Amino acid sequence: MTKELGVGIIGCGNISTTYFKLAPLFRGIRIAACADINPAAAEARGAEFDVTAQSIDALLANPEVDIVVNLTIPEAHFPVSKAILEAGKHVYSEKPLVLSLEQGEELRKIATGKGLTVGCAPDTFLGGAHQLARAYIDAGKIGQVTSGTCHVMSPGMEMWHPNPDFFFLPGGGPVLDLGPYYIANLINLIGPVKRVAALSSMASTTRTITSEPRNGEVIPVKTPTNIHALLEFRNGATITLSASWDVWAHRHANMELYGTEGSLFVPDPNFFGGTVEASGRNKDIQPLEMWEHPFAVNNWDHPLGPIANYRTAGLADMADAILKGRDARCSLERTLHGVDVMVSILKSGEEGSFVTLSTTCTQPAALGIEEARALLR
Ligand SMILES: NC(=O)c1ccc[n+]([C@@H]2O[C@H](COP(=O)([O-])OP(=O)(O)OC[C@H]3O[C@@H](n4cnc5c(N)ncnc54)[C@H](O)[C@@H]3O)[C@@H](O)[C@H]2O)c1
Repeated sequence: MTKELGVGIIGCGNISTTYFKLAPLFRGIRIAACADINPAAAEARGAEFDVTAQSIDALLANPEVDIVVNLTIPEAHFPVSKAILEAGKHVYSEKPLVLSLEQGEELRKIATGKGLTVGCAPDTFLGGAHQLARAYIDAGKIGQVTSGTCHVMSPGMEMWHPNPDFFFLPGGGPVLDLGPYYIANLINLIGPVKRVAALSSMASTTRTITSEPRNGEVIPVKTPTNIHALLEFRNGATITLSASWDVWAHRHANMELYGTEGSLFVPDPNFFGGTVEASGRNKDIQPLEMWEHPFAVNNWDHPLGPIANYRTAGLADMADAILKGRDARCSLERTLHGVDVMVSILKSGEEGSFVTLSTTCTQPAALGIEEARALLR
């Protein structure tokens, strides 16, 4: 039998159900316990998924827990991840890993000192669609990527999330909340970023919640909700990222990459699947034939129809990496570079000048069909 690592979950809110539901698909991990600052939340999830609910201290001392998944809100990510490392456990966090480079460096120092691993979502770039796009670029089909555009724009989050406050506070905002999916996928597809510039603004200093149960409640906005950024990559590509919660409707695609031999149209990096399209120099845009990648298979009901959802693939890949002594694809190095990109975009928006990044990273190893299958039970 393959060795399994015990997983504890801290933060039993909205996204935790996805982890509880999907973790059992993967080899090498087994959810052993859950906890929350609000014990009732942990008890409710524990009862729902037949997992032991504990206090946070008890979970951190639980010998059956090797990796702790941090699913708390962004401002709690750093202190909770730090406490996890200090308790001698590996960390896998939801995005954003931290809210500053200093926090990330502190986690790196503790983890290195204790021989522990830190990893972080998003893992959607491991999806069948994004890995198909990666294979297409790696095969030279669009030549050298020289430029591109990314758009993630909507009216906001207060119409669906039951507690949307954190989206509009420092640590939230569309760049830190949705940017990670785009930046992680760009790192997957073309590598690290060299420098950034941005303009930022907010359409309103308050938002009115229209989701239940707090329908009608007015909450403050304390971070930009409209950001247009320029990213210069180390490979020379120049790519725009428009991230906004001040847009009711638009006609831009999620991600388009332009190369010396053609163009690639990448589906929404927030999801694992979708149609990848491409054209050569003949400008004839055609869908690529979807390969038999396990992380492209629809397995999840979404309000807009069935989708491929393999969240926790990054956690399973990290557990496999720990067991085999290899590099995890959703590694601290890559995630911290992503944080550097995002906080530098916000800094440029405040200061009005280019910001050169102080971190870099390698491209993650591609995740082909066989490697993805090997992560599944
Ligand atoms: N909701 C989504 O669809 C979604 C998708 C992808 C990623 N995420 C990310 O996951 C994280 C959690 O999002 P969510 O939507 O589940 O939020 P949520 O507010 O629904 O849940 C967060 C939970 O963390 C608990 N918590 C807060 N501070 C804590 C602390 N210091 N110690 C222990 N528990 C604490 C809260 O009590 C709550 O139960 C965020 O970083 C978010 O960006 C959410």
